[in-house]
Amino acid sequence: MPVKRLISKDVQHVTTKVLQLMKDSGEKITMLTCYDYLTAKFLDAAKIEMILVGDSLGNVVQGNETTLPVTLEEMIYHTSIVRKGVERAMVIADMTFMSYQVGEDDAVRNCGKVMKLTGCDAIKMEGGDYIAGTVKRLVEIGIPVMGHLGLTPQSINKFGSYKTRGIEKSEADQIYKDALILEKAGCFAIVLEKIPAKLGKKVSEALKIPTIGIGAGQYCDGQVLVTPDMLGMIEEFKPRFVRKYMTLAQDMKDAFRRYISDVKENKFPTKEESY
Ligand code: KIV
Repeated sequence: MPVKRLISKDVQHVTTKVLQLMKDSGEKITMLTCYDYLTAKFLDAAKIEMILVGDSLGNVVQGNETTLPVTLEEMIYHTSIVRKGVERAMVIADMTFMSYQVGEDDAVRNCGKVMKLTGCDAIKMEGGDYIAGTVKRLVEIGIPVMGHLGLTPQSINKFGSYKTRGIEKSEADQIYKDALILEKAGCFAIVLEKIPAKLGKKVSEALKIPTIGIGAGQYCDGQVLVTPDMLGMIEEFKPRFVRKYMTLAQDMKDAFRRYISDVKENKFPTKEESY
């Protein structure tokens, strides 16, 4: 079947309006994470719709166990360098743990700071009902907000594990209710992480705004993956929702070994590679 590219085909710059039109027309939305300038350029050249500077940078760039240690300043730095590589895609900065939970004023100030200093197009924050007031204020002052429900990694110490959320009816109902609340508060889209496909479908059908799934099944309006995961850079991480499009860890290690051996055997540089 040909790839459906109706709305996104001629778009010069992806906006929240474009994403809404994509949902309304049934065109799937794509998002991947990014933390650096070069990868951002490649993602934009490939015509991805959204680039998320996720706080997964704590895991995949900084080597931490959780996303909790990422600071607002680090998020500002990474979003700024990603922004430089992007012309078309929407760039979204993930609000870091404790940058929006203390109180609404603090959250608004921090989100404003991120928008001002990075030039991002939108911000993302985790949580349901309890962030609705903040979302409403942000949207009122012109800051587009993407929600994030289901497995919310900033709450890992509350959950105790990275297992699928929303399996039990009470939690599934809560996720569903929170999604409706976030939509009403003004979110332009919601990430649904690691929930049953059936729940992903129910939420996606109930909402007017797009849902972007990661481990949330095929019925979401779009999909997101952590880029180093889908490039096969993290060999030991093999959850079923990650499709690996490359074996980059292996390819990088092979290239490094070949370089080392070429230098040691005096095969690099050659005359042609010298001045
Ligand atoms: O931080 C991140 O990369 C994310 C995605 C998994 C959605 O929040």
